[in-house]
Amino acid sequence: MTKVRNKKLKESSKKWLRRQMNDQYVEKAKKAGYRSRAAYKILEIQQKFKIFDQHSIVLDLGAAPGGWSQVVANIAKKVIAIDLLDMTPLPNVQFIRGDFAEERNMQMLIQLLGNEKADAVLSDMAPNTCGIKKIDHLRIINLLEDVYNFSIKILKPGGSLVAKVFQGGATNDLLRNLKQSFAKVGHFKPLSSRKESPEMYLIARGYRN
Ligand SMILES: C[S@@+](CC[C@H](N)C(=O)[O-])C[C@H]1O[C@@H](n2cnc3c(N)ncnc32)[C@H](O)[C@@H]1O
Repeated sequence: MTKVRNKKLKESSKKWLRRQMNDQYVEKAKKAGYRSRAAYKILEIQQKFKIFDQHSIVLDLGAAPGGWSQVVANIAKKVIAIDLLDMTPLPNVQFIRGDFAEERNMQMLIQLLGNEKADAVLSDMAPNTCGIKKIDHLRIINLLEDVYNFSIKILKPGGSLVAKVFQGGATNDLLRNLKQSFAKVGHFKPLSSRKESPEMYLIARGYRN
């Protein structure tokens, strides 16, 4: 009897702690003036992997409401962002509203790069889910493949790709391609990513042209 109660307590206190942690990020983001708690994910990624610097040109795919763009624009030379949803303008960020997966929008992103290539592509996009596992999985894979194919067109040698994936998200084919195209490929789960969320980030660095 006591054991069961303790077990229950443990479960509920774990949940409580997790919620507190998450609220901390929401609170922190509000106080720091970030538009989303997601800002802390890119801050952690940047701290660990040094993806961009003051000379970098960075693409932010799935940028709204703009937490990642805020963080990157504070450091990098230029940010080009896209989202299906509108985003309130930010200094140093050129924004396109539209579906990244549409060819004409990819072309617009490339146009905004002008004659330059990008130092990093960041994708925090997640496709809408319909609840049917197979279909949702395919949507995730398609989006990731689009992000990969786009990145290898526009990245500078040595450039990086950071993309949200879900556990079991990247197929062996895609991982094989990534490992051929980039010197270092790995996964990272930021502390600020909710533990119960299956999301993690694919970190590919050292693009080989
Ligand atoms: C988790 S939110 C991004 C949060 C953002 N990184 C931040 O820091 O505020 C994911 C975004 O991806 C966008 N998105 C999903 N699929 C997309 C697509 N195909 N093209 C453009 N944006 C997309 C959604 O509209 C959503 O705003």
